[in-house]
Amino acid sequence: MEKTDIIIVGSGIAALQLARRLQDHFYVMIITKDEIESGNSYLAQGGVAAPIGLKDSVHSHLKDTLEAGCYHQLEDSVKELLVDGKRIVESLVNEGAPFDREDDGSLSLGMEGAHSEYRILHSGGDQTGKFLMNHLLKSLSREKVQFVEREMVYELVKNDRGQCCGVKTKDKDDAIRFYYAPHIVLATGGIGGLYPSTSNHPSVTGDGMALAFLAGAKLSDMEFIQFHPTLLWSDGKTCGLISEAVRGEGAILLNDAGKRIMEGVDPLMELAPRHIVAECIYKERRKGRNVYLDISRIEDFQGKFPSIFALCSKHHISIEAGRIPVSPGCHFMMGGIVTDRVGRTNIPGLYAIGEVACSGIHGANRLASNSLLEGLVYGERLGEYLIESGVRSSALVYSPFDRIVEGEPISIPFHADELKEGMMNHVGIIRKEEGLSAHLEWLNEQPLTFHEHIDFNSREEIHLYFMWVVSLLVTESALLRTESRGGHIRSDFPMEDNAGWLKRKMVLQKNEGRLRVDDHEQNETKIYA
Ligand code: SIN
Repeated sequence: MEKTDIIIVGSGIAALQLARRLQDHFYVMIITKDEIESGNSYLAQGGVAAPIGLKDSVHSHLKDTLEAGCYHQLEDSVKELLVDGKRIVESLVNEGAPFDREDDGSLSLGMEGAHSEYRILHSGGDQTGKFLMNHLLKSLSREKVQFVEREMVYELVKNDRGQCCGVKTKDKDDAIRFYYAPHIVLATGGIGGLYPSTSNHPSVTGDGMALAFLAGAKLSDMEFIQFHPTLLWSDGKTCGLISEAVRGEGAILLNDAGKRIMEGVDPLMELAPRHIVAECIYKERRKGRNVYLDISRIEDFQGKFPSIFALCSKHHISIEAGRIPVSPGCHFMMGGIVTDRVGRTNIPGLYAIGEVACSGIHGANRLASNSLLEGLVYGERLGEYLIESGVRSSALVYSPFDRIVEGEPISIPFHADELKEGMMNHVGIIRKEEGLSAHLEWLNEQPLTFHEHIDFNSREEIHLYFMWVVSLLVTESALLRTESRGGHIRSDFPMEDNAGWLKRKMVLQKNEGRLRVDDHEQNETKIYA
């Protein structure tokens, strides 16, 4: 490819949708640290939520989204997501995207937790992410969209005007490379890999959030982390997702005494918002009881959920027995890099879309199957914005090589498992001041600080450093929010505090190597050591 106009870091649904939109106008490079077929979007089982059913409406989908997010969202942004999402999903259907259909040819719409209508489009039963990714990949021109695989971006390069204009990477042999373009887009996903139990691909370790923070971007809502209630539990660990669509088809949650555990917890029972179901399963398991999804009422389980059937078979769980052992695990980050409606960050030339971004649509807890929708909408919207605004040739008027600063040589003194255990035990499903402070103390004891320019011997060390950065941002945010809301549950502050916290946000930013937290509602700024 002769030149690159736009670099996209990450290769999930938001990245591919953006590349697809841009390819008739620009040269695009997609850089991914693994292979295109790895990553979270490929793993998505449930589907894409969109208000396209005959009885459904944007209003109803909006109501469900706001309720699941505990009203912490920007309502206008959510409405815009759903209006645009409906249009984009309809156009995907019209172009022949492989959504499952009923025998009469109509779209098959599934149900998931906290939805009041059947509105989940799915593909291949429970293989929606894979089918949709393949559909988008097929539509990309390899002349206009170049894939750089197995290279990890570990620094954002800025020019002397402070505009983001490039990335520094390490390839699979740990060799350093630089790539430049006037627009850099982060689409790197969430932070599941910071926890030992996660539905995410293990490579998803918050890289984009760390990169952006270290370059001076603003992040927010980092305390809001969704734990999916039902990961398969086998051999003393979680080993993959059991989609909420299984509960949508009628599965119920029982403990090993046969008690239906959601009874008396929430009127929606198994289809209550995820944080409520996850907390209930977690508490039950803490009492020493196992929890199972009873799937005996579901007809043709294998036909409806082929990849879950295969996952259970791989772990010697018999579907015929009708019970799948489950436990919660980290699933989705609601917070992230603060962006506007098209994905712009506070750093000119740097954009963020998909799970890595915090655009105000998910609030304290994301509604099921709104994430693929987010990727489709924000990928398209940023594409339209970039096409309209054109490539800023001025961004590259500087001498990048003068600006390349030698990185600080850093070595990492801890093992990933130590950090992950600390996150699960103290910054997991239920948090309290004592545990959060203990984990923060452990993080602060590490001989590390926030560096914009870093040098590591290996990619493994970069991962650990980024995990340390993100863990610190999550833990500090969780300590500051003294209430429970959605994916942030504090046993020492068990209630929602609408008077004090409903729309209040902490905005995190690097300040001369230290952490600056702005609380705009209280007009307060604090700098932490
Ligand atoms: C699931 O299939 O349960 C996950 C889908 C989602 O997170 O939206």
